[in-house]
Amino acid sequence: MCGIIGYSGHRRACDVIIEGLSRLEYRGYDSAGILVNENGKFVTVKREGRLDNLKKTLENYSLNGTSGMGHTRWATHGGPTDYNAHPHGTDRVMLIHNGIIENYLEIKSLLVEKGYTFKSQTDTEIAACYLDLCYKGDPIAAIREMLVKIEGAYALVMMFSDRPGELYAVRKDGPLIAAPGEGENFLVSDITASIAYTNKYFVVEEGEIAIVTSDAIKVIDHDGNTIEKTVSVVNWNTDQAQKEGYDHFMIKEIHEQPSVIRRTISARIKNGLPDFTSDGLPHGFFSKFKSIKIVACGTAMHAGLIGKNLIEKLARVPVTVDLASEFRYNDPIMDENDLMVVISQSGETADTLAALRLAKARGVTTLAIVNVAGSSIAREADNVIYTYAGPEISVASTKAYSVQISVLYLIAFSIALDRGKIYENKAKSFVESLCSIPEMVENTIKLMPAVEKIAEHLKDHENVFYIGRGLDYALSCEGSLKLKEISYIHSEACSAGELKHGTISLIVEGMPVIALCTQNELTAKMLSNIKEVKARGAHVVLIAKHGESVSEDVADDLIIIDAVDDLFTPFAATTVLQLIAYYTAKARGCDIDKPRNLAKSVTVE
Ligand code: M6R
Repeated sequence: MCGIIGYSGHRRACDVIIEGLSRLEYRGYDSAGILVNENGKFVTVKREGRLDNLKKTLENYSLNGTSGMGHTRWATHGGPTDYNAHPHGTDRVMLIHNGIIENYLEIKSLLVEKGYTFKSQTDTEIAACYLDLCYKGDPIAAIREMLVKIEGAYALVMMFSDRPGELYAVRKDGPLIAAPGEGENFLVSDITASIAYTNKYFVVEEGEIAIVTSDAIKVIDHDGNTIEKTVSVVNWNTDQAQKEGYDHFMIKEIHEQPSVIRRTISARIKNGLPDFTSDGLPHGFFSKFKSIKIVACGTAMHAGLIGKNLIEKLARVPVTVDLASEFRYNDPIMDENDLMVVISQSGETADTLAALRLAKARGVTTLAIVNVAGSSIAREADNVIYTYAGPEISVASTKAYSVQISVLYLIAFSIALDRGKIYENKAKSFVESLCSIPEMVENTIKLMPAVEKIAEHLKDHENVFYIGRGLDYALSCEGSLKLKEISYIHSEACSAGELKHGTISLIVEGMPVIALCTQNELTAKMLSNIKEVKARGAHVVLIAKHGESVSEDVADDLIIIDAVDDLFTPFAATTVLQLIAYYTAKARGCDIDKPRNLAKSVTVE
């Protein structure tokens, strides 16, 4: 859960690396460090805190070397201090690391016996010193010897002071991309770090060693044979990864939802019907499975809850939704009749990846709904449906969720049609409704001023409740997560029907309750629940559909979204919930794109 970049080329490495790190900072921002090879000597500068601290310190240096590496850290072993920042190593060997070396204590005792001393509390420094111990002038031999010893997860970029301009890289269970440019080459955690210089990339696979100079990237296998890699081209540009005038990435990404939903669904609609053949899924792919298991974490899991509701309602196929961190240790029951669907924006979430591997090991067919091309989950799943959200930089996931549920809608229509639960005409009319969603989200975004007013009120509270039923309950879970992660207000989602079984005891005078009421058949029940909390003094913010029979006096604040079939309200409702979280966090002066203690990509369990 750190960001790494290695560079060898013709530019000042320091500038290129700092720019790359600024794009990788979402992966961790406890501390940052850089190493430049200045005429055969390593110059290392590391600072705790945000990248800006490192940038300020670098103003006192004049680094002209054209090769080097940089790291932005999300602390695991050892606190966020200057010493614990990467790179780590010795005068001869230095490295940067994303992951965890699990047997570092055992290696540490061995190194202590050999006379090594350590400056940090990190597992990474141990690996670096072990590499130094192995190094007798042949980097490849040393790396191989180290790999035999270390256990755990890693993406490592290594430099040897007597090999100026050369970088070496390996990985296991962590992302590592090589990006070839013109007279310059990169090693990065993800392509956003190199995209300003090249749109080409390939993945360094497990078991391979990449050797990078300014002229070439050579990849060898375990036996030293050269591997010809297929270079891919990515169509993201630098602008897409920038804020484009918005105050935060989060609000920019909320605004991008109409276009990314459009892009994601239009690629899977042919003749007005869902069609996943361009993803390599044959017609009728879903119909052979008796049940579906959706596994994911955080917001992606909440997308799964929407998927369950849709698939069960329309196609009558049983669906379970599990948190990946629970699923993988619960000895899940599954067989070849199941389809395992994993959902992940980053494609690198450690628990989701482990759950995927578990399913594969048990012979279960797997399908990944993933945003980042070339990510570990995308590569390991049997089948992949890419969401086309583009890079999501804000730690709080918004547009990735919307495209995940868009794909799940199409899957639900497709299964329902294949199983004869709906006629083609109905499927076509569902697809048509889905195609009108981007416009509906655009209209919802226009509600910003009204939401901002509500946020002004919410900002002074330390507890907020979200209530809903059916699809609205699944949305409440997501709305609550969004609020707590960026505003640091404690929030809880409660199924409205469950309030009486405990949670209602927490409702006191003035307590904000955000109530979702977008499902016609549940409106009467929801209104009763709203009255129950109002009677206990709650301040109710009601999100309802236009034309719904809710009178103004039922709530203290009312947000009305466009009228659509109940099935399609989640897109607009979730946009309102995202805006509530955003404006509340903004009113509280929180660091919206980089909330405390969180990282964008959770590559440790
Ligand atoms: O990259 P993934 O979709 O696998 O990430 C899963 C969660 O870590 C992620 O959705 C997280 O909950 C977000 N910060 C929520 O906004």
